Amino acid sequence: MHGGRKKAMKVLKGMMQERMADPERKCEDFFDHVIQELRREKPLLTETIALDLMFVLLFASFETTALALTLGVKLLTENPRVVDALTEEHEAIVRNREDPDAAVTWAEYKSMTFTAQVIMEIVRLANIVPGIFRKALQDVEIKGYTVPAGWGIMVCPPAVHLNPDIYEDPLAFNPWRWQDKPEITGGTKHFMAFGGGLRFCVGTDLTKVLMATFIHNLVTKYRWKTVKGGNIVRTPGLGFPDGFDIQLFPKN
Ligand code: HEM
Repeated sequence: MHGGRKKAMKVLKGMMQERMADPERKCEDFFDHVIQELRREKPLLTETIALDLMFVLLFASFETTALALTLGVKLLTENPRVVDALTEEHEAIVRNREDPDAAVTWAEYKSMTFTAQVIMEIVRLANIVPGIFRKALQDVEIKGYTVPAGWGIMVCPPAVHLNPDIYEDPLAFNPWRWQDKPEITGGTKHFMAFGGGLRFCVGTDLTKVLMATFIHNLVTKYRWKTVKGGNIVRTPGLGFPDGFDIQLFPKN
């Protein structure tokens, strides 16, 4: 087992034992709901499966959004024209508010047209998930080839997202390429950053709201400069070996 995973599993196991030992504990988070299930007479899961589930969820939710946002800030830093357009969109939202310090509302979020394009462009280039795995349940014929039943298949989203026949100048960070395109809410054969089909990412909408809220606060309240890092590796997952440190300054 990977060292980091081993440590995380140990922490989770400790948390589980602590919570299991306290029958008075209220249901406060998802982990509590899982533990409540384990306490039932015929639980749907075992302790091992529950711990595995919690680990995978942590990985699927925290790691992905943090990485996407890190790459996002780097791409914004390198593309001041995009920051200008974002600032315009978000300052207009703040100007139209009764209380400028109020939190982002759903209507405001839905009005963030350019921001939605920026988010699509960040996740297209981030390729957080470099491979999606499936198994052929029956022989599948594709363009004269046969994928035999039982074979494992790795779908490779970056091959689609960086294909110049689909995305012109594919390595360029160009949010405007999404302009006037209908919103993609699921996966398509040209966009699969969040997967597609039955196992489509359940966190897609949460991710988008999270990124939009982050961008809203970043461009309305702060200016920033790079302090260090920002080098990218693909192993094949996206990574920042020297981190990416920025310094924030309050605006005005
Ligand atoms: C940038 C952010 C994210 C990206 C790029 C991403 C990407 C993906 C992809 C490609 C899949 C499909 C895997 C497959 O088909 O085998 C997936 C599944 C999943 N994602 Fe995400 N995800 C993100 C954020 C999140 C968040 C925030 C959560 C939870 C709060 C989450 C929870 C899940 C879960 C539970 C699945 C499995 C769904 C299933 O198998 O039915 N993801 N994600």
